[in-house]
Amino acid sequence: MSYLIVANWKMNKTNQESLELITEINNGIHQASNVKVVICPPFTSIVSAAEVLQNSPISLGSQNLSHELPGAYTGEISAEMIAPHCEYVILGHSERRMMYGETSSIVNMKILKALDSKLIPIICIGENIDQRNEGKLDLILKEMLESSLMGINKYDNFVIAYEPLWAIGTGISASPDQANDVCNKIKKLLMDYFGKSSEDITTPILYGGSVSEENIKDFLEQDCIDGALIGSASLNSEQFLSIIQTIDTL
Ligand code: PGA
Repeated sequence: MSYLIVANWKMNKTNQESLELITEINNGIHQASNVKVVICPPFTSIVSAAEVLQNSPISLGSQNLSHELPGAYTGEISAEMIAPHCEYVILGHSERRMMYGETSSIVNMKILKALDSKLIPIICIGENIDQRNEGKLDLILKEMLESSLMGINKYDNFVIAYEPLWAIGTGISASPDQANDVCNKIKKLLMDYFGKSSEDITTPILYGGSVSEENIKDFLEQDCIDGALIGSASLNSEQFLSIIQTIDTL
């Protein structure tokens, strides 16, 4: 089993701080056979991080991109600017949907743009606490997934991250059972959407939301969870390396 671990640094770390953290992580990691690590620093650190990571097993991702072609879009970052340095891009994160008004159709355009630019989108979906309590989980997952995947080919390379909003940055993660159950639902939705059998679904399905060195093993031992999207615990090299070391033992 090979796991995908994605570090989402969000709006943290100056370029200097990023270089220190990425160097510590890079020095502490050996080429483990069962884990692929992707680090998503802020835009301002991507180019210098790419230099540190030359010949490293660690890949880079960006936390967003614009779906527009290069041009008059003040403050935006195009896929063309990111693609030479990154392999992945996080799209549709709930913080972008909630704080920056990213609708499902914008997220879909970004996903298509990423694929067009040979970037692998990490597509975030998840319910808020009211939706879960009102029994709308299945509906929300289906809607978010189907709107994200519009126009995507069944051979396209992408990742899904299940991130329940109530678990992000709260210190209260979903239980491993809850997360596994939803990742299983997502896998079934992908099978239906693309008309594929279970064995043909190779899309990694990650869990994200208060993942830590204490709980990573419990999540990855579940049969439908292929990795994790990690926020706050990825900002500290000791904690992050301890997560990777734990995965080495699985
Ligand atoms: P967290 O963030 O690990 O701090 O909960 C996860 C995320 O937002 O991707």
